[in-house]
Amino acid sequence: MTLQLRVYVPPHPLIKHWLAVARDASTPSVLFRSAITELGRWLTYEAAREWLPTMEATVQTPLSTSPATLINPEIPVAVVPILRAGLGLLEGAQTLLPLASIYHLGLVRDEATLEPLCYLNKLPEKLNPQTRVLITDPMLATGGSIMAAMAELTHRGVDPSLTRIVSVVAAPPALQKLSAAYPGLIIYTACIDEGLNDKGFIVPGLGDAGDRIFGT
Ligand code: PRP
Repeated sequence: MTLQLRVYVPPHPLIKHWLAVARDASTPSVLFRSAITELGRWLTYEAAREWLPTMEATVQTPLSTSPATLINPEIPVAVVPILRAGLGLLEGAQTLLPLASIYHLGLVRDEATLEPLCYLNKLPEKLNPQTRVLITDPMLATGGSIMAAMAELTHRGVDPSLTRIVSVVAAPPALQKLSAAYPGLIIYTACIDEGLNDKGFIVPGLGDAGDRIFGT
């Protein structure tokens, strides 16, 4: 598979550990939720490299002055969790991006057609094109949901090259669709999985992340 978009799988022991916990079918809901929170935290940490806008300044230390690099508060940062499962990654992301605006997007896959249906959209009509957007969704399967999310965002002025997707398991069909449509986009995922089964579930995957996070 030739991918134009960049997909990073950070080789970090904490990411590998929490992915293993999330994959394990015997992991109870409360621990699954923690695993997804931790993955949200560490994958966002990786995604923030060369994405979070900084500015140069000078700070007064107790002894002297020092050049310093700070987060630039003038450039908006937004997190877009894809409900429901994307909420699981949000908590970890939010601890690192406390000033980010959170725009919820509710998408559910029709179980028969696998087409996404939008039931909640809290995005503003227009977003500043400089906005750094982080989309959270633990599973990229057929790619229908993430492509719908990207369409909503770019329609509102978001620049795909300033956008990062944080996922836990990503399947080739979703990556191929994203690659064809948004070559500048960058994805951070704990793993690229083999593929999909005949019901559109990621294999080996981690089951239904939304159900496991919320115990339904
Ligand atoms: C899951 C998952 C993604 C989507 C991936 O959500 O969290 O949003 O499916 O599938 P796709 O790439 O084929 O579109 P689901 O529709 O099960 O909703 P939920 O998060 O509320 O459980």
